[in-house]
Amino acid sequence: MKKGNVAVLLSGRGSNFTAIVRASRTAGANFTVRLAVSNRADAVGLKKAARLGIPALHVDPAAFPDKAAYERAVCALLEGEHIDLVCLAGYMRLVGPVLLGRYPGRILNIHPALLPSFPGLDAQRQALDRGVKVSGCTVHFVDAGTDSGPIIAQQPVAVRPGDDEDALSRRILRQEHRLYPRAIALFFSGRLQIDGRTVIVRK
Ligand code: GRF
Repeated sequence: MKKGNVAVLLSGRGSNFTAIVRASRTAGANFTVRLAVSNRADAVGLKKAARLGIPALHVDPAAFPDKAAYERAVCALLEGEHIDLVCLAGYMRLVGPVLLGRYPGRILNIHPALLPSFPGLDAQRQALDRGVKVSGCTVHFVDAGTDSGPIIAQQPVAVRPGDDEDALSRRILRQEHRLYPRAIALFFSGRLQIDGRTVIVRK
């Protein structure tokens, strides 16, 4: 079986990245993580990648005249590794037309809420402020909007009385680490089909 090649774009801690790499190294996995790219030099995720033996690169957006030029540089790295799927994992930048154009329907993101509720920053804080009893996480295809692309998979997580942002975030994060690798495996199974806003999972 030819395995799919994955790149992870990140900006910070990289715990989802680590979970994806671990899953890729289990028996029967249908994907390999080839590359981690960060827009931030100080991303802890870059160090984690080095420890895991995955090539990890910092691409500094400030070194380029505009977002398009920055994304062209990222795309050159991705193409060099024959990347099939780009996974955003705590990547704190909006994806622009260059990256979207080169990888149409081939960019995923994970968000720590049940979309379309609470898109954008501080999703766990937003959920607590709104008093919801259930939140969770969502893996979706990336489009030009903020956390607005077709939804692939979701996992609900109960909000417990007395939860603060840290407690809820930790509980959601544990589920993120399970959901993201499952969604990636589903992508490479070839069973996903995008129909407008809906992702159909074929039998
Ligand atoms: C996660 O909560 C993810 O849902 C959000 O950013 C956070 C990244 O965490 N998009 P990590 O860097 O994977 O630990």
